[in-house]
Amino acid sequence: MRLEPIFHDDIDELVRIDQECFDKSLTYDSSFFDKLLSGNQVSRKAVENDEIIGFVISVLRKKVAVIYTLDVRIQDRRRGVANKLIEWLEGGLRERACQEIILQTHVNNTGAINLFSKHGYGATKRIRDYYSKGMDAFEMRKTL
Ligand SMILES: CC(C)(COP(=O)(O)OP(=O)(O)OC[C@H]1O[C@@H](n2cnc3c(N)ncnc32)[C@H](O)[C@@H]1OP(=O)(O)O)[C@@H](O)C(=O)NCCC(=O)NCCS
Repeated sequence: MRLEPIFHDDIDELVRIDQECFDKSLTYDSSFFDKLLSGNQVSRKAVENDEIIGFVISVLRKKVAVIYTLDVRIQDRRRGVANKLIEWLEGGLRERACQEIILQTHVNNTGAINLFSKHGYGATKRIRDYYSKGMDAFEMRKTL
């Protein structure tokens, strides 16, 4: 597995993987990915056998980065792909003098909560109706 920069040409595949990872109401469309990739983003895709198997996209504003998405294809889970993407991301953000990383995740997303807790992120608050009515999120943060 290699980690590589993400290009606009990858967007169709990112959309497909995002739809595999999340309920339809929570997925990003191609124009949103386009917007993310056009900003001050720090991101990588994980590639194996010329296929994208996962990716992470964060946006850095001043000294704070927001992770917008971290997706790993179902068939490639529990092999450490997300671990590698997070380790790379934190290194890349440190090089850019980032001091804090923030993300939101659904309160029932045990996989993501475990993953980020393991990497030292703490749930700082619960945001009511973040995704839609009755769908709360935890905000998780890590100081670099
Ligand atoms: C969450 C997600 C990114 C994890 O990707 P992954 O490549 O399978 O994660 P890793 O193999 O690197 O796992 C690292 C650690 O995270 C935790 N973890 C990952 N998936 C988990 C799960 N389903 N249940 C519980 N813990 C989990 C474990 O502690 C794991 O370590 P272990 O395998 O030694 O027990 C993946 O399940 C996914 O894409 N889910 C859908 C999208 C999503 O929820 N993204 C996060 C949004 S904030």
